[in-house]
Amino acid sequence: MKHPMLDLIQSRRSHRKYTSQQLTQPQLSAIMDAALASPSANNRQPWHFSVVQDSVLLNRLSEQAAKGAMNRDSAQRSPRYDDPDFQVFYHAPTVVFLSAPRDLPIAMVDCGIAVYGMALAAESLGLGSVILGLPRDAFSGPNREELESALHFPEGYGFVIALAVGHPADEKAPPEKHPEKISIIR
Ligand SMILES: Cc1cc2nc3c(=O)[nH]c(=O)nc-3n(C[C@H](O)[C@H](O)[C@H](O)COP(=O)(O)O)c2cc1C
Repeated sequence: MKHPMLDLIQSRRSHRKYTSQQLTQPQLSAIMDAALASPSANNRQPWHFSVVQDSVLLNRLSEQAAKGAMNRDSAQRSPRYDDPDFQVFYHAPTVVFLSAPRDLPIAMVDCGIAVYGMALAAESLGLGSVILGLPRDAFSGPNREELESALHFPEGYGFVIALAVGHPADEKAPPEKHPEKISIIR
């Protein structure tokens, strides 16, 4: 079946290389409008969105993430950290951090839905994005509170997920699909 929204869902891929071109304000506003339109359990909207375009802060967070990851045992650590040039945000010009109340497990689901809506919004604008869980490693060390404050997380909120957005500089092949993961019970 053909539909522009279905095409958009099929064309979205994770991008891990970006040009330095920054998003325009209308592009950023459109992505953040999509974020604010996300559904959430009980319409609680239990999120905060921290939009970061400060490359110094992003580099610092990436360094902290690499340090934090060293405290994981190697089986739990992403092999991406083995590359000395790895930057957890892939040098994307804009990164949006989603934080939520630490004591509200369902907020993880809400933020997951919101970040996907933002990724689709970025795709619809001809931009690229990648959803990022690895920055959580930045918040596992003694600098956690300072970093949370630099990102304006509200009191009691912790990192959930991030989205790096920009103009992609890589080519992506269509994803491998696994239709056997669907059971239809009639
Ligand atoms: C919850 C979540 C966390 C992710 N964290 C990372 C990450 O930290 N770094 C990364 O490069 N990709 C990350 N990804 C992207 C996945 O690797 C990617 O979605 C997957 O390989 C499928 O590729 P595609 O998005 O191009 O279809 C994450 C995706 C999700 C949904």
